[in-house]
Amino acid sequence: MKRKLWITGAQGQLGQSLAKYVDDDRYDILWTDYPEGDITQTEVVQKLFQKHVFDTVINCAAYTAVDRAESEVEKAQAINVDGVQNLVDACQSCGASLIHISTDFVFDGDANTPLAETETPHPQSVYGQTKWAGEQVVLNANISAAVIRTSWLFSEFGHNFVKTMQRLGTEKSEISVVNDQVGTPTYASDLAQVCSQMLPKLKELKGPEIFHFSNRQACSWFDFANVIMEQSRLECRVNPIPSSDYPTPAKRPAYSVLNTQKIEDFLGLQIRPWPEALRECLTHLDP
Ligand SMILES: NC(=O)c1ccc[n+]([C@@H]2O[C@H](COP(=O)([O-])OP(=O)(O)OC[C@H]3O[C@@H](n4cnc5c(N)ncnc54)[C@H](OP(=O)(O)O)[C@@H]3O)[C@@H](O)[C@H]2O)c1
Repeated sequence: MKRKLWITGAQGQLGQSLAKYVDDDRYDILWTDYPEGDITQTEVVQKLFQKHVFDTVINCAAYTAVDRAESEVEKAQAINVDGVQNLVDACQSCGASLIHISTDFVFDGDANTPLAETETPHPQSVYGQTKWAGEQVVLNANISAAVIRTSWLFSEFGHNFVKTMQRLGTEKSEISVVNDQVGTPTYASDLAQVCSQMLPKLKELKGPEIFHFSNRQACSWFDFANVIMEQSRLECRVNPIPSSDYPTPAKRPAYSVLNTQKIEDFLGLQIRPWPEALRECLTHLDP
């Protein structure tokens, strides 16, 4: 019999990327986004659970506007914390398992070696704080769950850095990009594949657990921008600047490279470097 799977935030970068990887033959899948699958509405979540009796939920729904969150604290809290609580309560009531996605922005950026799951978060932004609080909701629950922290998502879908660089690269001959924030870009498609590989392994988890996943190869946003221009064959010069020359409402970590050893061991993964994943992503995009 097919297992019942609910994918929330289905129109987001990760949600759309999952379509390629979750197996229709094995799973009976409900794809929802806002507003019909609004995770902040307790009764919406409860009714969907009563109707479908899900075995597993992949929560791709999130408030992801990092800078706007500084002035929309309640909205970010509602989606990234209260919405997660609704999903956890529903999962707990019927023994369903959960894959929840979190972020490298839970860290303060003071580290200088890749961050393991055991490192203590210290978020510096409203977005990071709400995502960390959402993690706590899952980690305190009595369910099988994987909280997968990831970083710098890009894809052919939605809004992301790759698409912004391609647009600027066609409009301008020169741009400036910060070179003092170091992290690891992650192709949403590679993360989607990892989520699909995690599905049958959730039962092996004794309770909720954190995993880190990103592509390989740390870089700065400046390095990332240069490779996007190069691979897109755009003649746009990229100048390195410090973050102090590009002030943003939300503070970002200076260093948020994730140590991915745990998920590599658990799923038997060979993670590819982001420039290789970027090449694949660009085959779906016209600059
Ligand atoms: N993007 C990144 O660089 C990045 C980095 C690290 C971690 N992450 C995490 O990775 C996950 C996936 O990110 P993503 O980039 O795929 O996000 P995304 O593209 O912003 O997708 C999130 C989806 O959730 C939907 N949504 C918003 N409020 C909702 C609600 N109340 N109920 C149901 N759905 C709602 C959004 O709809 P609207 O578009 O209509 O709001 C959107 O379709 C998130 O947990 C995010 O925190 C992202």
